[in-house]
Amino acid sequence: MSIAPPFDLAARRADFPILDREVNGKPLVYLDNGATSQKPRQVIERLREFYEVENSNIHRGVHYLSVKATDSYDEARATIANALNVEDAGQLIFTRGTTEGINLVAHSWGRQNLGEGDEIVLTHMEHHANIVPWQFLAEQTGAIIKVAPVTDEGLLDLDAWKGLFTEKTKLASFTHISNVLGTVNPVAEMTAYARERGIITLVDGAQGAPHGPVDVTALGCDFYAFSGHKCYGPDGIGVLFGRRELLEAMAPYQRGGDMVEKVTFEETTFKGIPEKYEAGTPNISGAIGLAAAFDYMAALDWTAIAAHEQALLEATNTALAEIPSVQFQGTVAGKVPVVSFTMKGIHPHDIGTILDSEGVAVRAGNHCAQPLMARFGIPSSARASFAFYNTLEEVEVLAKAVAKTQRFFG
Ligand code: ALA
Repeated sequence: MSIAPPFDLAARRADFPILDREVNGKPLVYLDNGATSQKPRQVIERLREFYEVENSNIHRGVHYLSVKATDSYDEARATIANALNVEDAGQLIFTRGTTEGINLVAHSWGRQNLGEGDEIVLTHMEHHANIVPWQFLAEQTGAIIKVAPVTDEGLLDLDAWKGLFTEKTKLASFTHISNVLGTVNPVAEMTAYARERGIITLVDGAQGAPHGPVDVTALGCDFYAFSGHKCYGPDGIGVLFGRRELLEAMAPYQRGGDMVEKVTFEETTFKGIPEKYEAGTPNISGAIGLAAAFDYMAALDWTAIAAHEQALLEATNTALAEIPSVQFQGTVAGKVPVVSFTMKGIHPHDIGTILDSEGVAVRAGNHCAQPLMARFGIPSSARASFAFYNTLEEVEVLAKAVAKTQRFFG
């Protein structure tokens, strides 16, 4: 199984130092990219450079390093805005990650705009991060959550989703790409449908942002949240895009230093966006490291990568389908290379453990998507999630390890 890589795969792999290491005496085959991606040298070096020659707090100092760190932090926002095709960089809020971005919207927009009987439309393929904050909001406001179904193949039932909308619907929140099924949702079509009805949309981009450039303007959503650590950047940093008029009208999520204009013991006035949402010292190095990751991604040939990722997906599907007990969750065309599977009579943790003994890292569990697991009638599964730096040879190692698992428990 060896085809010429459609881009310089060896050179790109060499950018990621960790891919060279061994695990349990075997070469690492890292297939847990849905949980977190590995980091290229360019990001690691940028973090090192920041701490070695630039480290300072931002916005508060007049001294050289503070000005330098402030410039780098502001440039990071501009770099990421440019990559997302967002002209007004003030519409990007640095967060801790997708979860904080969604919580920010639920807290600040939700409490101001939802009341008793108002409806929030979700889908059955959501990660817990796009369920639990809305449940909390519904408890506090009396709003109601409605859930659109997913087909047996793992496709969102779009007609059923549209059918959930009523005059009481205020928000539709849905994932760009399912972290379990790999399904890519028709985001632009969904946001257009919601917009025509005056309904606000939030897109969970945690799995969308790592698989190629995201044009937030073309997607047409009101909010888009993602995490840096799945996009080849540092952890503890993420981005929330929000439309300016919404962000300006919303109350701050957290309050404290750096986001205020004037403070007296009687009252406080706040800065504009984005500062209004970034109370306290932010993750300065994280933002700068994430911008380095976006610079790295901008230099990649994503057309070639899409073809490579499809080759990885097809090879995995073909190889695992030969193992009799394997059952897939999520088989729709055009999905990203996220392959969730169960093996009849074998616990996913046992699959994960045998694979680990062969150096293969996969995630085993409910993937923070218990409602989706229940929909498929399983408590958990194993998941191999690929990045552009994975190879067809690694697919072979995975398939051999899965076959070994079958022999061991079969
Ligand atoms: N949301 C991450 C995953 O799917 C952690 O693994």
